[in-house]
Amino acid sequence: MHTPALATASDGFLLHGEPFRIISGAMHYFRIHPDLWADRLRKARLMGLNTVETYVPWNLHQPDPDSPLVLDGLLDLPRYLSLARDEGLHVLLRPGPYICAEWDGGGLPSWLTTDPDIRLRSSDPRFTAALDRYLDILLPPLLPHMAANGGSVIAVQVENEYGAYGDDTAYLKHVHQALRSRGVEELLFTCDQAGSGHHLAAGSLPGVLSTATFGGRIEESLAALRAHQPEGPLMCSEFWIGWFDHWGEEHHVRDAANAAADLDRLLAAGASVNIYMFHGGTNFGFTNGANHDQCYAPIVTSYDYDAALTESGDPGPKYHAFREVIARHAPVPEEPVPAPAPKLSGITVELTRRAPLLPYATSTAEPVARTEHPVTMEELGQRSGYVLYRTTLPEAGDGLLHFAGGVGDRAQVFVDGAPAGVLERERHDETLPLRVPQPGATLEVLVENMGGVNYGPRIGAPKGLLGPVTFNGTALHGWDTHRLPLTDLSAVPFAPAEATPVTVPAFHHGTFDVDTPADTFLSLPGWTKGQAWINGFHLGRYWNRGPQRTLYVPAPVLRPGANELVLLELNATTNARAELTDTPDLGPVKP
Ligand code: GLA
Repeated sequence: MHTPALATASDGFLLHGEPFRIISGAMHYFRIHPDLWADRLRKARLMGLNTVETYVPWNLHQPDPDSPLVLDGLLDLPRYLSLARDEGLHVLLRPGPYICAEWDGGGLPSWLTTDPDIRLRSSDPRFTAALDRYLDILLPPLLPHMAANGGSVIAVQVENEYGAYGDDTAYLKHVHQALRSRGVEELLFTCDQAGSGHHLAAGSLPGVLSTATFGGRIEESLAALRAHQPEGPLMCSEFWIGWFDHWGEEHHVRDAANAAADLDRLLAAGASVNIYMFHGGTNFGFTNGANHDQCYAPIVTSYDYDAALTESGDPGPKYHAFREVIARHAPVPEEPVPAPAPKLSGITVELTRRAPLLPYATSTAEPVARTEHPVTMEELGQRSGYVLYRTTLPEAGDGLLHFAGGVGDRAQVFVDGAPAGVLERERHDETLPLRVPQPGATLEVLVENMGGVNYGPRIGAPKGLLGPVTFNGTALHGWDTHRLPLTDLSAVPFAPAEATPVTVPAFHHGTFDVDTPADTFLSLPGWTKGQAWINGFHLGRYWNRGPQRTLYVPAPVLRPGANELVLLELNATTNARAELTDTPDLGPVKP
């Protein structure tokens, strides 16, 4: 084994034998359009960072247990690591396997829980065997990017805040050994919340550097880390300078001057730091996670995080404030701070064609074999998106529909195609009154997976209909299930809106012209809840519940000339237009 490039001394790091302080910023390649990686990395260096940090999302890199590693486009991690090296930046790599990060399932693939008894993040051999198979395919393409081989990666994290979750030290040792035995020679570290006394102890491993996560109370937090680890570098591996948003809450911001003052305290104390987030980016597609404390609370599409760079990659107030602070403690490039990128505005898109969803689901998505009771999304092997369940209601009359096993996460109910109501995970034990017009009426239940829980004991909670469904206390039997992963919309049979009866939910289609592509924000006044795609790129979810009201459209998604907008709107809309604007609206700020 070589000597790792990065090593620890009694009070700091050494890089190639010289004293070194890590001034890092978090930036997840999988939340940024790949054509924009180089731009964001350059802006990281220009703020004064010498390092960037990223997680690695297992769920996207290995979407099925038997699939080869996915490493293209937004997932081309080797390319990202090369670009970082080209920019002169080091990389802290956090391959999990669990990454939290407000990311679907905390990065754990949903296929793991096809076996509902599996104990995630533990030395359960079912979990460690799956992890080992993943690392067998993940690490070979990454090894050339390790500092030992001339690459950018100077340190690798073992698990993530494990002390907040479990106490299975044998599992942490397994992850450690799994990295080492596959050729990772760089410095390894763990990270745990400084604010919770026992977390650092429960999440640490002898011989592995402990680092702490915190956003304030700098002196106390560093003291807690020092008390836990009497010698070695002090490192705040997540310095929280903003926060994430849930649907239905206010938008979180943190004052730039306040965050900069805390950064100054950290650097003045001689600590190393990873600013979380330097640039948050976007939960494109179906990639957002969720919390589940008192109730299920999914994360919004934007991961702006009130970070130093805005979601669209422009220097915000924190960028300038942090650059000034860093300059007091370390050299900062003298090049000018980049100006905000140009934005498109004033484009109206008329959505003139549509296609109802329910007939599309039943005609194009083959039903899986009929089952006695509904099957979960995990049983279907479907990772994200929607599922349509269908059965018949044997008797006419009024009654109560009950999802006895619960629902993950939101179910829209239709009787003979007519909307009958919604039941959500938050309120799954409620019943829905139904009027059944005739014996043999069709009951359809459209279930949306709104994002896998990414923190706490409910990681891996199942999606779809989660058990028997009863009507007036009697289980309904004989279910057809249609998968709607919505990964390819090319077969949606759009027709002119005038010729299509208004039905919900429905796809809506419009085109618009662009001269020169530039960043823009999609605004959907009058639309209520659904998904948006431009030129086939899945921008993510929208929901008038807020706080987020616009969706970020990265310039590379657009092309000169005609462009195509598709919405899946789950409810009716009062408006058949969308707007492209130059100003994001992430919602009212938490006071
Ligand atoms: C923890 C996790 C991160 C992220 C932050 C909150 O520190 O380690 O992945 O979830 O909380 O944004």
